[in-house]
Amino acid sequence: THVDWDVDMAEKGGYPDFMLKEICEQPRVVRDTLVGRLAPTGELDIDELGLSFEELNLIDRVYVIACGTSYHAGLIAKNLIEGWARIPCEVEAASEFRYRNPIITPTTLVVAVSQSGETADTLAAIRDARIKGGKVFGITNVVGSPVARESDGVIYTKANKEIAVASTKSFIGQIVSLSLLSLLLAQAKGKLKTGQVKMLFHELGDTAAQIQHILDTQGPAIHEAALACKDAASALFVGRGMGTAISYEGALKLKEVSYLHAEAYAAGEMKHGPIALIDPGFPVIAVATKSPTYDKVVSNLKECEARGATIIALATEGDEDIAKIAGHIISIPPVRDCFSAITASVPLQLLAREVALMRGCNVDQPRNLAKSVTVE
Ligand code: G6P
Repeated sequence: THVDWDVDMAEKGGYPDFMLKEICEQPRVVRDTLVGRLAPTGELDIDELGLSFEELNLIDRVYVIACGTSYHAGLIAKNLIEGWARIPCEVEAASEFRYRNPIITPTTLVVAVSQSGETADTLAAIRDARIKGGKVFGITNVVGSPVARESDGVIYTKANKEIAVASTKSFIGQIVSLSLLSLLLAQAKGKLKTGQVKMLFHELGDTAAQIQHILDTQGPAIHEAALACKDAASALFVGRGMGTAISYEGALKLKEVSYLHAEAYAAGEMKHGPIALIDPGFPVIAVATKSPTYDKVVSNLKECEARGATIIALATEGDEDIAKIAGHIISIPPVRDCFSAITASVPLQLLAREVALMRGCNVDQPRNLAKSVTVE
């Protein structure tokens, strides 16, 4: 009825679907997740974690356990935890972690990441980790959820309720929260000085404006890129380092909402198999932003281009070289590599949505998927 339509539109804040509404909320999510987190002294304020600096300093191993998109936030966090705090970090699907016998001691930190805070496998992994004597931090979007209640400490992502089944704004909230946790661990371990932490914290906050800039300017480029993908049988997402983790989430988002088969690969591994897939017109979506491995990614892309691939590159604004090999370019403002996942993931969300709409899919409620999986 007419009334339903109005209610529906009002809930979506004038957007055609929740997925787009939630993608567009991401600058706010970044800001809200960071509010009040840096004291004027330069100390990070994450009291809810319930561990002293001395206790944090003793941590010698980190596991990030999660499922789906939250698992990909963990892949990004591994780079930060190892890079800044120099603590060995493993990322594992909760459904795997719970059925093997992971090495957990009282100085092991298990970080459980879950938007809903009620994923059955993640909860089981938390319980197992605590029985074995590890410390558990939860990162969740739902206040008072089982993950929050059963962890020793919790950081809330300030995404607010996420309605579209495929996670977008929660993912960004998770990366920002995990960045805070990584900075805190680095501070506790004495691996980063107060001045460095402050600088990184402010750059983390700057990603809010960078996301906004992408939302404001990249729509037409993303639309063109989506046209190049929509009729493909399959698509390959590639990157290196942070770009690999970003690629995994890009491929998942595309599969979830458009049902187009997609696979993500570390670009350096392509020559060991996936390059065999490439024939003329095959879409290769590459995270080719300026990073320590930029040149390596470009040479991998040249190999794809030589075999006729259609290359869609996420590139740093002003990069003119990439135009020589990429058929489509989506521009990302310059950002430190450690924060590139926050910005580069946004156009990949939009790309997935555009492809899905072109293929006639319901982007908010993909077939066969549930927002939270509370049974095994
Ligand atoms: C389901 C959802 C995904 C989500 C995953 C993990 O598969 O469809 O979007 O990433 O569960 O959920 P969680 O709530 O634990 O983050």
